[in-house]
Amino acid sequence: MTNVDAAVFRQLCGRFATGVVILTTTGEDGHPVGMTANTFTSVSLEPPLVSVNVDHLADMHRHLARASSFAINVLESRQEALSRRFAGEHANRFEGVGYRLGKTGLPLLDGVLATLECDIHARFEAGDHTIIVGRVVGGSTGDGRPLLYYRGGYFDHPPA
Ligand SMILES: Cc1cc2nc3c(=O)[nH]c(=O)nc-3n(C[C@H](O)[C@H](O)[C@H](O)COP(=O)(O)O)c2cc1C
Repeated sequence: MTNVDAAVFRQLCGRFATGVVILTTTGEDGHPVGMTANTFTSVSLEPPLVSVNVDHLADMHRHLARASSFAINVLESRQEALSRRFAGEHANRFEGVGYRLGKTGLPLLDGVLATLECDIHARFEAGDHTIIVGRVVGGSTGDGRPLLYYRGGYFDHPPA
């Protein structure tokens, strides 16, 4: 059997509604780095594991290859602009963005629904992405509504 073509694959996966997260860690020069992702999922309860899939071509892939920890910031419905910024070209994605350093020193974004601080537990190669498995060592929650992503668009409530 041959593979479905890329456009069909996108359409199929796009029917699965997700939240949106920004992965953050500390870059080689000590500055915070971050990238928008929607491939976040919980993996295991004991130990508490989560995963994200990162494109080999993303700068974040290089950062996470040498990092020992990263944070997952779950976006609130009013943070679409933040999602766009951390998914696109910007000279300094953190410019004017509020954040604090967590107990592990990771950059944690202000105003998010949750932050999960993770030690990197495992990495698995899968096609053109790496599955990064994180062991959750800390976290906090906030209030608000989730930012949703569906069929390539953003929503602040479940779409029809
Ligand atoms: C809603 C949304 C979800 C995304 N999810 C992922 C993802 O899970 N993994 C990934 O590697 N890229 C994902 N991307 C694409 C990256 O955010 C984008 O390629 C980004 O520019 C990579 O940044 P970097 O090269 O600075 O790391 C997503 C983009 C959007 C808008």
